[in-house]
Amino acid sequence: MAEPIMQTYDVQKSFEGKKARIAIIGTGNIANEHIHSYKKIPEVEIVAACDINESKLHMYCDRHDIPAENRYTSVEALLADKERLALDAADVCVWNCNHAACSIAALNAGLHVFCEKPMAYNTEQALAMKEAADRNGKLLMIGFVMRFSNEMNAAMDFIHAGTLGDIYYAKATYLRRHGNPGGWFADKSRSGGGPVIDLGVHVIDANRYMMGQPKPVSVYAATADKLGNRKNLKTTVSWKPLDAKEDDICDVEDFGTALIRFDNGATMLLETSYSLNGAGVVKRELYGDKGGMVFADMPKIYTEMNGYMVDVTPDLSYPKDDVPQFRREMQHFVDCVRTGCECRAKAEDGIWVMKILDAIYESARTGHEVIIK
Ligand SMILES: NC(=O)c1ccc[n+]([C@@H]2O[C@H](COP(=O)([O-])OP(=O)(O)OC[C@H]3O[C@@H](n4cnc5c(N)ncnc54)[C@H](O)[C@@H]3O)[C@@H](O)[C@H]2O)c1
Repeated sequence: MAEPIMQTYDVQKSFEGKKARIAIIGTGNIANEHIHSYKKIPEVEIVAACDINESKLHMYCDRHDIPAENRYTSVEALLADKERLALDAADVCVWNCNHAACSIAALNAGLHVFCEKPMAYNTEQALAMKEAADRNGKLLMIGFVMRFSNEMNAAMDFIHAGTLGDIYYAKATYLRRHGNPGGWFADKSRSGGGPVIDLGVHVIDANRYMMGQPKPVSVYAATADKLGNRKNLKTTVSWKPLDAKEDDICDVEDFGTALIRFDNGATMLLETSYSLNGAGVVKRELYGDKGGMVFADMPKIYTEMNGYMVDVTPDLSYPKDDVPQFRREMQHFVDCVRTGCECRAKAEDGIWVMKILDAIYESARTGHEVIIK
């Protein structure tokens, strides 16, 4: 049985009545999503921001009332000013290739860190990040936002109650038909890869979380780059970096599939794409010996009752605590920083997922099964 998902908060005296003071590093699209959430959380103040792109930095800070003297074009300059800013934490929203450098610098400066998914460019960098967090005694939370939705909470309630029994198979599906964002996302030197590391990471983590976090032991995978970024289409994609350009490089895969084995004998099948001649879909599926769950927008349970096969759809239309997943995620980070409560998306979870992602690319490259240690 998986661990309970929420922990008791252990209030630290130093934060009584005081807000957590956070700096945003990387002021692009997701940083906008984060700050909209932070603005609804009374216990936090976003005091500074940093981006290597000066025009994006000022656009963001103007929009969100971050004063001119608290804007920085390098992480080093931001951290050099941490005493004046009285920073407690940093929220890292930069390109994947810079997650490790920015997070490690902030941890070494004595800040708690929230780092967006994927944890890093590769496992080696992810391990260095955790080492920095441990050495400095600071929190390193990873942005696995799917863990924080109302629907995930409901799914976990059923899983913890034993409704699915022993989960032995899962399917992780995140398919976009025309969804290569371009810009740095399509540049392997900055992203680390395409849909596998960008979208697959979400559903792999969500499924592994619901499976009780078994240890991955091997991966057999393939990727394809048949359709590219579909520039020929007249339609555009919805998620695009502001600085993406028409002639940007595109050297990432556009499709990936993998079979992941875990130490408890369970397996997970991944399918993910930026470009595909098929319908776009985000779906998590879990199959256990007592029940199954197909979880697209809402979790639906397939089980048996009184000798009949029955389908159960929990009514989540009137939740007591209806908070969007990003707000719940940011609230949890702020709670962790202020109270020292146990983090629900730890660095070690990020490392296991990074090991799976690295193994997928390695297996796709070699055509062989890759063993994870
Ligand atoms: N949780 C989610 O659902 C979700 C959704 C989208 C993106 N993300 C993640 O968030 C991160 C950012 O994605 P985005 O869509 O906001 O990209 P973006 O291009 O809109 O923003 C990234 C910003 O980081 C800046 N940057 C890069 N390196 C930097 C550095 N060393 N120091 C300071 N700034 C730096 C860039 O100039 C850019 O403005 C990525 O890791 C991505 O995977 C997560």
